[in-house]
Formats: sequence, structure tokens, C-alpha cells
Amino acid sequence: MARILVTGGTGYIGSHTTVELMQQGYDVTIVDNLSNSSIDVLDGIAAIVGKKPDFANIDCGNFVDLDAVFKQYPDIVGVIHFAASKAVGESVEKPLLYYRNNLGSLCTLLEVMRLHQVTNLVFSSSCTVYGQPDAAHLPVDETAPIQAALSPYGNTKQINEEIIRDEAHADKTLNATILRYFNPIGAHPSAHIGELPNGVPQNLLPFITQTATGLRPELKVFGNDYNTPDGSCIRDYIYVVDLAKAHVKAIDRMLNAADREQVEVFNLGTGTGLSVLTLINEFEAATGVKIPYTIVGRREGDIEQVWAAPKKANEVLGWKADTPIRDVLASAWKWEKRIRNIK
Ligand code: UD1
Repeated sequence: MARILVTGGTGYIGSHTTVELMQQGYDVTIVDNLSNSSIDVLDGIAAIVGKKPDFANIDCGNFVDLDAVFKQYPDIVGVIHFAASKAVGESVEKPLLYYRNNLGSLCTLLEVMRLHQVTNLVFSSSCTVYGQPDAAHLPVDETAPIQAALSPYGNTKQINEEIIRDEAHADKTLNATILRYFNPIGAHPSAHIGELPNGVPQNLLPFITQTATGLRPELKVFGNDYNTPDGSCIRDYIYVVDLAKAHVKAIDRMLNAADREQVEVFNLGTGTGLSVLTLINEFEAATGVKIPYTIVGRREGDIEQVWAAPKKANEVLGWKADTPIRDVLASAWKWEKRIRNIK
């Protein structure tokens, strides 16, 4: 069976994708420098699929180390590139770290792929490239205009997409699939893997689950004066396992479809927008746990509302994010309880 290289494979989305790839019969080699993940994730993956993926503790920006991995695994037929720094606030504080890490690792990866004639790349991008779409572009499909990034992190996603397009133009053998994620949430139903935020969570659902355990006294809802039905921001929350499955579909398509374009872009979301206050209510309904919260001022740089038009992914990839939101929220709570040893 074919082997897929997963960069950042011990991270949140990378680990769930590795599970889905292995369950579909792919061999997987993970490369990760463990800068924002734990080696124990490999045990979590093994507990689900019955064996550990191959693993190399290297930095994707290191040409010599990455080259050695491609030499060791000549059966690699495709790469899914997750490895990147992803904290929006930190990227504002340390822009050079983000540009060096997120741009440098992609350039190195593309060089090594070309050297070893590996021609299939799936790239982990974000709906952040659309900024706040105007009303005519909601829900957002892939033709919506790209807008100036609000953070160095967002900018690295935009530049990475451009790097891929330029390289594909220069090297006609390179196939790329750019996946623009909306808001990934939840954990594997087994609770063997899930999201492990560093320190105080910046993202909504990890903050909710930590508040549910009592670790945080209350959730702060950033603004209720937006132009939305209940005044809080709207996002498209997509189950991480559904998202992981889309990567397998993208790889399958790259390896099998004759009619694909050289660079393809897909929005990965559910097609439904939920407000912050709705998500809190749904969490309470799914788990029976009350979330204490207060409304505070808006968070700088937040987008009012964005959700996906996933039609292209539904039709072309034959994929749909259809796990009910309460099951998704219950999976996040099961995972949080497991890592906190709560019964
Ligand atoms: C953020 C990034 C996005 C990145 C994604 C990665 C910004 C502007 N966007 O998305 O580029 O790809 O994370 O995970 O930072 N909220 C609260 N209280 C909280 C935390 C969040 O009310 O304690 C609200 C936010 O205001 C927002 C919603 O919850 O309306 C979702 O926030 P978050 O999970 O941080 O995701 P995004 O901001 O959509």
C-alpha cells in the first residue's frame, strides 16, 4: 500500500488524519519536531488503529533531515503538510518566528519532494484567507476574494498558497490540494487523541471544556453587539474527524482521479454557522454541564461571521461533514474528562 508522509502528524488535526489514513490502509510516516505536541500521541494513535505510525523527530525546515526521511521511505507517494506554528496572538508578537517556520518549512519540503519526485501535496490552509467576506459571499465558496491578512499567522497561510501555486507553475509534475479549514473542534470518539492546547486556550471550545471542569472559573464571550441574530460571532465548527476524512479523500483523488486540476482548492466546513452563544447552549444540552460565562468586549481582529459553502468538497471529493454538533461537543467533553482524570 502507498505511504503518506504527514508533517505535524502528532498535532491536533495531523493525529486524527493519521488515524483515518491508517484505517484506510495507507502506511504513514510522521515527521514532527514536537514543538507543540507530545510523543505520547503515537500511543493514542496505536490504541485506535492497532499499530504506531513510523515517526521521525525532525524539523521540516531542516533539508538534510527531511531528505534522509525521503531516502528512508522511497515508497512515499504523497505528503500532507500540517507542520506550522498556529497561534494568532503569538504570531503578532513574534512575526519572524512565524515567517521563518511556516514559509521555510514549506520551501524545504517542496525542494525535497522535487528531489525525490514525490508529486502530490495536500496543504493545510485556513478560512482566515477570506477575512470577513461581504454579504454577497456568505456562505463562502472557493471563489470569494482573498483579503489582506489580519495577522502574520494568516499571512503565512496566504503566502504558502502562493508558494504552492508558483512552484506548481514551475514544475508541471507537482499536484497540490489546498484545504481551507473553518473551525475544527472535537476529539476522536475513543478519547485516545484530541486537542492539547498549550497554557490558556485561545480557541473557544477548549476554553469551554476547561471551564466545564472548573479549571477556568468562567468563559468570556467576546462581544454580543455584532450584527448577528444573537449579537455574538458566527463560525462554522467542523468535527476534526470529519475534517481528517477529507484529507484521505483528497489523497485518494490525487492518486486516482484523471480529471483533476493541477492545483485544487476546497473549503472544508459544515455549511452551517453557529453563534458563540448557540455553541454554549449546545454544549450544555450535549453534556448536561452548565458553562458560567460573562459577556465582555470584542476581541481585536475577530471576524463577525463566516461559514462555508462546502458544495465543491461535497461533490468533487465525495465528502460531507455531517456529524451532529452534540456528538461533536460530547466528544470534546469526553476527551477533556479523560485528560483531567474526571469520571
Ligand atoms: C482563530 C483565528 C484563525 C485560526 C483559528 C485556528 C483569529 C481572528 N482567527 O479563529 O485565523 O485559523 O483560530 O484555530 O484569531 N471566543 C470567545 N471566547 C473565548 C474564545 C473565543 O467568545 O474565550 C469567540 C471568538 O470571539 C470567536 C469564536 O469564539 O467568535 C471562535 O474563536 P476561536 O476559537 O478563537 O476561532 P477563530 O477566531 O474563528
